[in-house]
Amino acid sequence: MKDSSAVDPVSRVLGGARQSIPPIWLMRQAGRYLPEYRAIRDKSGSFLDLCFNPKCAAEVTLQPIRRFGFDAAILFSDILVVPHALGQHVNFEEGIGPKLDPLQDPAAIARLRRDIDQARLEPVYEAIERVRSELPAQVALLGFCGAPWTVATYMIAGGGSADQLPARLFAYRFPDAFGQLIDILVEASAGYLIRQFTAGVDAVQVFDSWAGVLPAAEFRRWCIEPCARIATAVRKKIPQAKIIGFPRGAASELGRYLDDVAVDAISLDWTVELGFAREHVQSRRPVQGNLDPLALLVGGTALDRSIDAILEAFSSGPFIFNLGHGILPETPIAHVERLVTRVRGAHN
Ligand code: CP3
Repeated sequence: MKDSSAVDPVSRVLGGARQSIPPIWLMRQAGRYLPEYRAIRDKSGSFLDLCFNPKCAAEVTLQPIRRFGFDAAILFSDILVVPHALGQHVNFEEGIGPKLDPLQDPAAIARLRRDIDQARLEPVYEAIERVRSELPAQVALLGFCGAPWTVATYMIAGGGSADQLPARLFAYRFPDAFGQLIDILVEASAGYLIRQFTAGVDAVQVFDSWAGVLPAAEFRRWCIEPCARIATAVRKKIPQAKIIGFPRGAASELGRYLDDVAVDAISLDWTVELGFAREHVQSRRPVQGNLDPLALLVGGTALDRSIDAILEAFSSGPFIFNLGHGILPETPIAHVERLVTRVRGAHN
């Protein structure tokens, strides 16, 4: 982390201070919509090979900063490096997505490592150190992990699936074994985030991308509680740690999430109504979000209107401009340029 005299705008917002021009970064800002990313990706072997090559991962992390001048760089990696470090086989198939050996019964969970193999994650920490050394002081460096529920859904199903049905079934059928898996992921994620902070990140985001598929009671048990434990464990080692929570799709439960999870800010998905978010979320914690990635893809009036509505709703309080989920690979670069210009105030 940087010393407090060099605090960047993103860190200032996370500390509760409104900025007259909101800082901006985008989820998945390093990715296939950038030709310079595709060039490195084509030379790097598999997706995981790229994640574990510190020099290339650092380069890819810096690409969107150079091109767009975003206010934060997010470490280039993936939430599924944690299952990999727990001994599960993980592979990314071209054009399909992640494939893991699915955990089909309690015995499969009993076979997992109890602790992450930190040696497997060493290249991630080295990538953080490399980015830190090249990044201007006014740009924040963000680390991240997947929340236990979201990571567990991929571990159980063996990949993405319709509404992550396999994990939801597993949690009802084998609650004790599922609880053990969540406990392992809480420990692993906290340890992983602590190492990211010691390597040099300014803040971390906890992605609970599948939070929205659970009934409220299950959401409390499998999303709120584990995330609360991660925040407590990280703060025990790094008291000043800044943490952004992203419980995607859980708008009606955000109040309870904020009651229990000691996050510094909430990242809002694009479905959250702006007036509701200002009144019930931004009144309690800084917010980040929540442009629909499809509006960015389409551009034109749809984009301008969406940007203006978000600026109008959130600009009076602590706010970081972002998407409501990751940027889509088909997004034109000119639309991203237009977005940055408009958010920074040149409205033409
Ligand atoms: O935001 C960033 O720029 C940092 C890098 C980042 C990636 N994945 C790179 C990536 C981050 C923060 C993630 C998080 C992640 N990964 C999540 C949580 C956020 C979300 O999107 O919901 C999840 C669920 C994953 C798992 C994952 N990784 C899936 C389902 C896929 C396949 C879908 C897809 O977009 O291709 C990935 C692959 C992945 N992770 C890519 C990138 C740039 C594309 C791989 C490629 O280059 O071919």
